[in-house]
Amino acid sequence: MSSPIIGTSLTRVDGAAKVTGRADYAADAAAPGMAHGALVLSTVARGTVHAMDTAAAERAEGVLAVYSPFNPLKLHRIKTTADLSFVGQFWLPLQDDKVRYYGQIIGLVVAETYEQARYAASLIHPDYRTEPARTSFTDGLARAVPPPVPVHFEDSQVDIVTAGLGSVDEAIDTAPVTVSVTYTQPPQVPLALEPHAVLASWEEGTLTLRLGSQSPLGHALAAAETLGLAMDQVRVLSPHVGGAFGGKLYVWPHPLLTAAAARELDRPVRTVLTQEQVFSVVGHRSAVSQTVTLGAERDGTLVALKHDAVSSLSLSGVIYETAAHTTSRYTYRCPNIHVGQTVVPLDSPPTTWVRAPGEAPGSFALESAMDELATELGLDPIDLRMRNYATVFPGRGVPWSSKHLDECYRVGAERFGWQPRTGPRQPAGEEDDWLVGTGMAGATYPGQLLPITAAGVRLTAAGTAAVSSAAADPGTGMRTVLAMVCADDLGIPVDRVEAHLGDSALPLNYGAFASMGTASTTAAVRSATVAVRRQLVELAVGEPDSPFHGLPEDAVTYAEGRLVSGELNVGFGELLTLLGRDSLDSPGLAMPGAERLRFAIHSFAAHFCEVRVHRSTGEVRLNRWTTVVDGGRIINRKTARGQIVGGVMFGIGQALLEGLRAEPETGRFANGNLADYVVPVHADMPGFDVHFLDHPDTNFSPLGARGIGELGTVGTAAAIGNAVFNATGRRVRDLPITVDKLI
Ligand code: MOS
Repeated sequence: MSSPIIGTSLTRVDGAAKVTGRADYAADAAAPGMAHGALVLSTVARGTVHAMDTAAAERAEGVLAVYSPFNPLKLHRIKTTADLSFVGQFWLPLQDDKVRYYGQIIGLVVAETYEQARYAASLIHPDYRTEPARTSFTDGLARAVPPPVPVHFEDSQVDIVTAGLGSVDEAIDTAPVTVSVTYTQPPQVPLALEPHAVLASWEEGTLTLRLGSQSPLGHALAAAETLGLAMDQVRVLSPHVGGAFGGKLYVWPHPLLTAAAARELDRPVRTVLTQEQVFSVVGHRSAVSQTVTLGAERDGTLVALKHDAVSSLSLSGVIYETAAHTTSRYTYRCPNIHVGQTVVPLDSPPTTWVRAPGEAPGSFALESAMDELATELGLDPIDLRMRNYATVFPGRGVPWSSKHLDECYRVGAERFGWQPRTGPRQPAGEEDDWLVGTGMAGATYPGQLLPITAAGVRLTAAGTAAVSSAAADPGTGMRTVLAMVCADDLGIPVDRVEAHLGDSALPLNYGAFASMGTASTTAAVRSATVAVRRQLVELAVGEPDSPFHGLPEDAVTYAEGRLVSGELNVGFGELLTLLGRDSLDSPGLAMPGAERLRFAIHSFAAHFCEVRVHRSTGEVRLNRWTTVVDGGRIINRKTARGQIVGGVMFGIGQALLEGLRAEPETGRFANGNLADYVVPVHADMPGFDVHFLDHPDTNFSPLGARGIGELGTVGTAAAIGNAVFNATGRRVRDLPITVDKLI
């Protein structure tokens, strides 16, 4: 098929609606007779709620109900840890009197208005029996333990990956050059501008949840499980999502409680979290400490790579950062690789998925350590990487489906104007009071497909088409990508296609996570468009009212929205009209094929950046940025660029600004609010040069698309740290790189 649309740069089909305020988000949703929920959160880290005086709240104006451990809403038990259900923590609130972290839900007030509900919630005074809590990751490092649930990735079940020389430690001991360094970073949150909110309404025993979701289907499954419903009694609607970053993948308890309250009160209930509440009700990325030891020959050839990661794991959660297994396990060719993972259990809010889970911290450690080794050896960092370039997946011996990381380095160096280095540190220069430095890092992220994905395509008698799948568009551009692929496959303009997603009742799709959405969903759409075109030809030759009636199928071709045979040339809308049909529907299905096991599959990128560091204040500013991406076939260059820039921005936060700080005594996140938890804004952004290599990966998906949603975050913090070192000679191994660490 020719591709006039795929690979172009198209403005989002819902862009105008979003920027003009017409796109409605969960907190905008309303229903007749709607009441309002407000959460009550715990103010100790561990213990029990001994008593809870709710009398004043119950008497307050407009209050309909006050739910607490002493007046609970029944939720059903959920599966625990290893089942990986879509619930973000493995216990549900109000079902017992335990407090497991500061800021957990211990009550829900429902009132006529939002203000009444919030005011009444402020009148509630719980009495706690507190117990000593473990809240400090640093203090906990000494008691790190093996993870209670295994590292989740198929290639990551072993610690020693390759051992060519007896043991990794022996290889390190005998290596001519070694670098052994420890890197640390605090927890990071999946901070989205859209607050977490839910509207729950019931009609004849059927629940509709309006919320922002990365997985409407996952949310529906979790709601059905916890509320005791069949799947056809739950519908999750999530038409627009104002950012997610992992935080809207799993279901947190507030939609479940809100739904239970709405059922009991027989009224729709909407609960909108305050931004402060989001910090503890929604999970966060583990704190991580990593030690990387590299052993090398003097020419830079790696002989040993040992990477041990320690991550915080909430005692309420199931997810932790698998930093070593998702990076050092396969990034470089090396005869001795060891990746290790332990966790520090904490009485903290749930640890969960946050953009580039594992890779974001892991790449910071590995790609910083490689820079430290390059400095030690007096080698250019690209040269060092190319000397250890992996063409087969370490320990498995299979090639990559499509790997052009070398081209990323080369093209990136050209575009950026990278000056090759030899010998000791050579700072890029100075500008007035600023020290200037450059840095680079590589990036990998696995190419994965959802286990099964469906889509539907409808052609109408008006000559338009609709494409649908229960996919999510948390800002990724999925709605636009759906429309583009459908239009391209049908040979019609994009403005003749409507795309539907964000609804659990649409054809099965697990949603937007792990950078799998585009490859998985476009494969299902392709399957549906192939089917609908075939069906159209069958109708054309088989139906008596068709001008093509009686022709052999192979005499009729489909092109650019029309059926053609000799002189006959009929648009599909026209044909459907002639046949007296309003529409024609075809489903499509995609599943990963077994041939994928013959390959390792990853997306790749290389980042280059220039920073300036103020000589007196230590302030770090980013001057410019180049990222070259090997992400398979790019469907929409504009939204793809947005994904990479957004991903890099996430890494800039990790490198320079972000970090949750828990108070030791209470476990309270001292900076858990939008004023004190600092994320990058436009003023922090460098000029971006994002370049996509064009190597379709058809070993992986029919369109050759892979995934890029998280790739931009990987390696970014290392590139910045490496540039700061180049500018200043200071190696900051504890993120974020703040001024106090540079002066
Ligand atoms: Mo993303 S952290 O896979 O939701």
